Amino acid sequence: MAIFFFSPRFLFFSTIIPFLASIALYRLDTFDPAPLPAEALAYSTNSIPPLLNDGLLTGAEFIGAGLLNNPEDIAYHRDSGLIYTGCVDGWVKRVKVLDSANDSVVEDWVNTGGRPLGIAFGLHGEVIVADAYKGLLNISNDGKKTELLTDEAEGVRFKLTDAVAVGDNGVLYFTDASYKYNFRQAAFDFLEGKPHGRLMSFDPTTRTTRVLLRDLYFANGVSMSPDQSHLVFCETTVRRCSKYYINGGRVEVFIQDLPGYPDNIRYDGDGHYWIAIPSGVTTLWKLSMKYPFLRKLTVMAAKYGFEPMFAENAGVLQVDLDGKPIALYHDRKISHITTGVKIGRYLYCGSLLHSHIIRLDLLKYPAQ
Ligand SMILES: *[C@@H]1O[C@H](CO)[C@@H](O)[C@H](O)[C@H]1NC(C)=O
Ligand SMILES: *[C@@H]1O[C@H](CO)[C@@H](O)[C@H](O)[C@H]1NC(C)=O
Repeated sequence: MAIFFFSPRFLFFSTIIPFLASIALYRLDTFDPAPLPAEALAYSTNSIPPLLNDGLLTGAEFIGAGLLNNPEDIAYHRDSGLIYTGCVDGWVKRVKVLDSANDSVVEDWVNTGGRPLGIAFGLHGEVIVADAYKGLLNISNDGKKTELLTDEAEGVRFKLTDAVAVGDNGVLYFTDASYKYNFRQAAFDFLEGKPHGRLMSFDPTTRTTRVLLRDLYFANGVSMSPDQSHLVFCETTVRRCSKYYINGGRVEVFIQDLPGYPDNIRYDGDGHYWIAIPSGVTTLWKLSMKYPFLRKLTVMAAKYGFEPMFAENAGVLQVDLDGKPIALYHDRKISHITTGVKIGRYLYCGSLLHSHIIRLDLLKYPAQ
């Protein structure tokens, strides 16, 4: 038998043919990932804050368990005490949170028929939704009317409308993560490593959509600074958040070299932003980001049913107004946390994976 195993014939059929076939498949496949800019391949501890809670799930409560299907973003309506969140089944749901998380009441409010992601409140009580498939929507406060505000700019349609923030001037600022890949294909955009994202504004008085920045690497969360001078927005693929100054359009790095891939960013009204991180950096991701051919192999494997996204160690990073890291709440056992909103003493986390909102009591379980 040993002789058979090492015979030229065996080598030919067991090794050389599959090898040649793989090369042919690899060359035929049209997916063409790009090298990433050098700053996206830098890894340091600069963005690791002094305060850590590495057991986010310890002591966490689950809100709306089983009733919230991947609640991606969260917006808190102070007057009514309701949380609004967008689910994968198209529902914008409202959650009345009570002291006991188990007693929370979930209401199906409005179904957009798409995939509501970013949520924010307009100046007149309306709910503005960045819907991945539909574009930017305006839902009247009684929930009776849903209006499409915009779904294209400069002749290019949005394909993955992602997040939205509202300025005191009434202008809506929002992102389209990609004009090339839709919500279901988001991992391919990330793996391709090319900048298909845009930061835009919509002015309701003139009904015009303006492109503020283009060529962004998966443009994701966006938040307005408390002094209304600039936006802070996240680019997932390159692990960076930047400032965009409303007057003049200057761009500055806010925080880079993050410990993971940032999603939504939310201001808490109290001097801090909270940046959600659906996955920390892993060795596999580091290698993949460095070598485009590994990303191509991942995508080819995905075509045969292998899950391309290996996410782990999700969390929420608290930073100050200058982007200085303050505290990180994370957990190896959790992935796909997509938003972190601080309401009172609690941190509420949305997710692309779970069927509940995760709530952590920050006084009981602080980062240390
Ligand atoms: C809430 O519900 C969960 C799951 O049903 C249960 O394990 C937990 O004990 C409940 N907590 C309270 C405070 O009732
Ligand atoms: C949203 O629609 C309401 C009417 O339902 C309108 O009063 C409001 O100005 C609209 N908001 C935006 C940002 O267009």
